Amino acid sequence: MKAIVCTDYGPPDLLQLRDVPKPVPKDDEVLIRVRATTVSAADCELRRFDFAPWIWLPMRLAFGIRKPRRRVLGQELAGDVEAVGRKVTSFTKGDRVFAATGIPLGAHAEYICLRENPQTGAIATMPSNLGYDEAAAVPYGGGEALQFLRKANVRSGQRVLVNGAGGSFGTFAVQLAKVLGAHVTAVDSAPKLEMLRAIGADRVIDYAREDFTAGPETWDVIFDVVRGTPSGRMVMRLTESGWLLMANPGFLQIVRARWAARGSRRRVSFTASSGTKDDLAYLSGPVEAGRLHPVIDRRFPLEQMAEAHRYAESGQKLGNVVVVVA
Ligand SMILES: NC(=O)c1ccc[n+]([C@@H]2O[C@H](COP(=O)([O-])OP(=O)(O)OC[C@H]3O[C@@H](n4cnc5c(N)ncnc54)[C@H](OP(=O)(O)O)[C@@H]3O)[C@@H](O)[C@H]2O)c1
Repeated sequence: MKAIVCTDYGPPDLLQLRDVPKPVPKDDEVLIRVRATTVSAADCELRRFDFAPWIWLPMRLAFGIRKPRRRVLGQELAGDVEAVGRKVTSFTKGDRVFAATGIPLGAHAEYICLRENPQTGAIATMPSNLGYDEAAAVPYGGGEALQFLRKANVRSGQRVLVNGAGGSFGTFAVQLAKVLGAHVTAVDSAPKLEMLRAIGADRVIDYAREDFTAGPETWDVIFDVVRGTPSGRMVMRLTESGWLLMANPGFLQIVRARWAARGSRRRVSFTASSGTKDDLAYLSGPVEAGRLHPVIDRRFPLEQMAEAHRYAESGQKLGNVVVVVA
């Protein structure tokens, strides 16, 4: 089968289309014919391996010291079940599924084997109203955004601010917060604001013109996906028992946020467990009801994976970059 192999840590040109052995499902695994996948910010980070010093070593131990051990990137996909192991009970050949791979990665290929009930990641039946290209963009950003918003128990009438709202996590967080009945402020660069209004943001802020951490306004939940936002100041912009959710924090940001929240009822969280099968099933609900739309910017064929990475890390990406696997 064809797969995109990441031969070393570094620039997109290191990604090569190669023939690799087609995987065979073990007893508890599902073999999926991948029809579409995505290139996320996290795929680009794993390829570049430019993580902050405090996380660099643990990540390098997990993903390969000298060269990538998980040589096929890709964290989400949609496709068809081609075969199942003998202990698999929830899927059969021909099912249309979408999936988050979790830590094993591997979606940038024609086929992938995933466990029916993995420790990280999940497989579920695809939303019936989406094509493979749209469904592929839901599991990772949608699953992570859902996990974070659930931590803060976002509910009707609350005020939620999403910082970095125009990307993969952000576009799902904005829409999910609206589904939960919140008033949503979306912060990103000027070219992304029209799209953010279109997906339901009640108010938009261009971060180049206005610093939301500097004003007097407060929110019940601030969901931040941007590395380097002053975290102590974000805590001060929370209501009395508000939540700061940081998807992409540096070590000092965590320390400063916790320090700023000490002695108060404000809470800070910076991890989310990866989405579960139930999360994917939950996301299908608003998707099928027309209340949650994956935002797709560009589509690339598998052969143009390096180009897809270049675009995904260009800063222009609106929502998600999809890779179609013919
Ligand atoms: N904590 C966890 O459990 C966890 C799990 C998985 C991944 N992550 C990390 O979380 C991040 C997820 O991001 P994503 O996939 O949503 O990334 P993304 O698609 O690249 O979106 C990031 C958005 O932030 C915007 N942005 C950049 N600087 C900004 C600023 N100063 N103020 C406001 N917005 C700004 C970007 O727009 P412009 O480029 O136009 O500025 C972009 O629209 C990744 O870094 C990933 O590694 C965390």
